[in-house]
Amino acid sequence: MTALPDVLPDPIVYLNGELVPLSEARVPVLDRGFIFGDGIYEVAPLYAQAGGRRTAFRFRQHLARLARSVGKIGIANPFDDAGWRALIERVVAANEADGGLRDDQDAIAYIQVTRGVAKRVHAFPAGIQPTVFVMVTPLNLPDAAQRAHGVRCVTAEDRRWLNCDIKSVSLLGNVLMAQYAAENDAFETIQLRDGMLTEGSSSNVWVVKGGVLSAPPRSHKILEGIRYGLIEELTAECGIRFDARDITEAELRAADEIIVSSATKEVLPVTQLDGQPVGEGKPGEVFAALYSAYQRAKAHEALEAQEAQQGVENESRERVTA
Ligand code: PDD
Repeated sequence: MTALPDVLPDPIVYLNGELVPLSEARVPVLDRGFIFGDGIYEVAPLYAQAGGRRTAFRFRQHLARLARSVGKIGIANPFDDAGWRALIERVVAANEADGGLRDDQDAIAYIQVTRGVAKRVHAFPAGIQPTVFVMVTPLNLPDAAQRAHGVRCVTAEDRRWLNCDIKSVSLLGNVLMAQYAAENDAFETIQLRDGMLTEGSSSNVWVVKGGVLSAPPRSHKILEGIRYGLIEELTAECGIRFDARDITEAELRAADEIIVSSATKEVLPVTQLDGQPVGEGKPGEVFAALYSAYQRAKAHEALEAQEAQQGVENESRERVTA
């Protein structure tokens, strides 16, 4: 029996200590992730680089957010950073060996930790083991046409809970917003809470006016994307002024540029909002500068990783010859 429709790929995944094909991975129905959505997740890009290696981009920051997420819901982090890194490498290696992931393919690491399996009682049960799931699949970044022309978005009232800073697997609110976009032939739904911009269903949202980039401040109303800190750094590098501040619906609609960001989208220009052109209706200069800076940041991290690896190899060679 296969648990997957035949059309789906069947990567090797990690589940609770074992590497198994996705079609054979099983969690008990009393897993609190299934019963209560009681768990958290992470999504991190693993960029292919020359020589068949992969750079886990901004992985330190992803692991720090993972640690914050489990901490906020009272789950002990199942691994330290080195443990998570080793685990991801193991899953990547298994999929490369299996032929499911080519050397030159960018990938995405999906990590999920739930509180574990217990009798169905709402409060935390004592003494249970968290469920740990890791999946590495090819990453399909937005295509050149989406970057060249931008994407259409729609707006909707943000009706989610008020702990949006936790990267929780309880994503029904976000799922409904993504579905709203799909039904309106839009790429993403941009949410507003009480007339103020929050974020997309699975992305952070940025607004440009008069050359100044703004985004809602870090708070419980949005998930702090790993690209949030990155884009802050990139604005400094590009000489773009950045302002973290509350943004009204009117300001959103009057923006010169709107940009969305996430691990799987990087940065993307929004050129139509609720059927109206954003600014001049084409990707703007701030987007172009951030996109280039983002690609430079990727190349820079890849080089750093390569140098670190070279250092380790040289050291072990010296040890052998000493
Ligand atoms: N989502 N806000 C929400 C609600 C998100 O779900 C995401 C990412 C972001 C951007 O975070 P980051 O820059 O770290 O990707 C903001 C991921 C990609 C997902 O759920 O698949």
